[in-house]
Amino acid sequence: MKVAVIGCGSIANAAHIPSYMNNPEAEIKYFCDIIPERADAAVEKYGCGTAVVDYHDVLKDPEVEAVSVCTPNNVHAQIAIDALRAGKNVLCEKPAARTYAEALEMQKVQHETGKILNIGVVNRFNDSVNLIKKYIDSGKLGDVFHVYVSFRAHRSIPGLGGAFTTKAIAGGGALIDWGVHYLDIVMYCCGDPKVRTVTGEVFSKLGVDMKNYAYTDMWAGPPKYDGVYDVDDSVTGLIRTDGPTITVHGAWAQNIGESEQYIDFMGDKAGIRLAYGKDFTVYTAENGALVEYKPVFKMRNHFQNEIDAFVDCVKTGKKLPSHIDTVIITAEMMQAIYDSAEQHREIALN
Ligand SMILES: NC(=O)c1ccc[n+]([C@@H]2O[C@H](COP(=O)([O-])OP(=O)(O)OC[C@H]3O[C@@H](n4cnc5c(N)ncnc54)[C@H](O)[C@@H]3O)[C@@H](O)[C@H]2O)c1
Repeated sequence: MKVAVIGCGSIANAAHIPSYMNNPEAEIKYFCDIIPERADAAVEKYGCGTAVVDYHDVLKDPEVEAVSVCTPNNVHAQIAIDALRAGKNVLCEKPAARTYAEALEMQKVQHETGKILNIGVVNRFNDSVNLIKKYIDSGKLGDVFHVYVSFRAHRSIPGLGGAFTTKAIAGGGALIDWGVHYLDIVMYCCGDPKVRTVTGEVFSKLGVDMKNYAYTDMWAGPPKYDGVYDVDDSVTGLIRTDGPTITVHGAWAQNIGESEQYIDFMGDKAGIRLAYGKDFTVYTAENGALVEYKPVFKMRNHFQNEIDAFVDCVKTGKKLPSHIDTVIITAEMMQAIYDSAEQHREIALN
């Protein structure tokens, strides 16, 4: 299957490209980046494909069946929509788009074209997350009434002044960049409950005075002090659903010392703490005693799982849990948190 990678930056090189290279069914025909050196470097490094700067050239090639969209968030919707309309199947990195309206437009075009549109909610292909889902589905936790989501870092603002901290490009900050993964895990593990109300506040505090932001290292850096910083670096929210109530607390930077990145699934029979990206612990009671244990299992690379599943679904037409139809709810929830914060009131979802 001939595929193309559009956007040859960090996530393309760390995840999409090596995973396609490892998949015996896939062959990368194009590396596309508006920075020509990045596309050229990929051709050289991986020893295959042709470098292009304009993604329309990829879409014109009838041999290309599928594309990965690994660009910044501001062009996710446009590229994904153009690709679908050109008859390509699409794996678009998370978040689906900058706003719920953009994500809805992508979903509409997916429905019109019938081509696949999956979003890079890679945790749905994470073995730890899938095991937790099994625990919840099989009733081991009992009634999961509350989920507490913490994605807080001491100092982890990415590329201060760059694409990640510019709302016009990213759509938002810590919530849209990290929170999307956490909310998606909760929805997936809890069986995609209907969301009723959303209330939230977002803050732009620690990074806004860019020159005085103290840090030890910076991913997606270095800082551009003449750039823009107009996104949330901290967020809190409460989401009521037909299933559990979800409490959200996240930050790229907070004065907390240690980073706190986990999800607590609280059931009346047992609870689980997922150490984000790692394993999890089960807490329960047996025969009047408190018990905790850490399941031991093999964890494969979740990006490889995601790409393998994508390639397979292009062949088989199987609908994956990362389909836009399933993932659109996180776009709606994040939009509602931003809207709630702007209006300082609760938002009811229909
Ligand atoms: N799934 C995950 O865990 C995960 C992790 C990191 C990033 N991401 C997502 O991946 C996306 C890219 O992030 P990144 O860290 O790789 O950014 P990056 O800046 O390292 O790479 C993006 C690349 O896209 C290129 N680009 C921009 N506009 C383009 C266009 N119109 N056509 C072709 N190329 C274009 C840029 O030149 C750049 O090389 C973001 O949406 C981000 O949220 C997801």
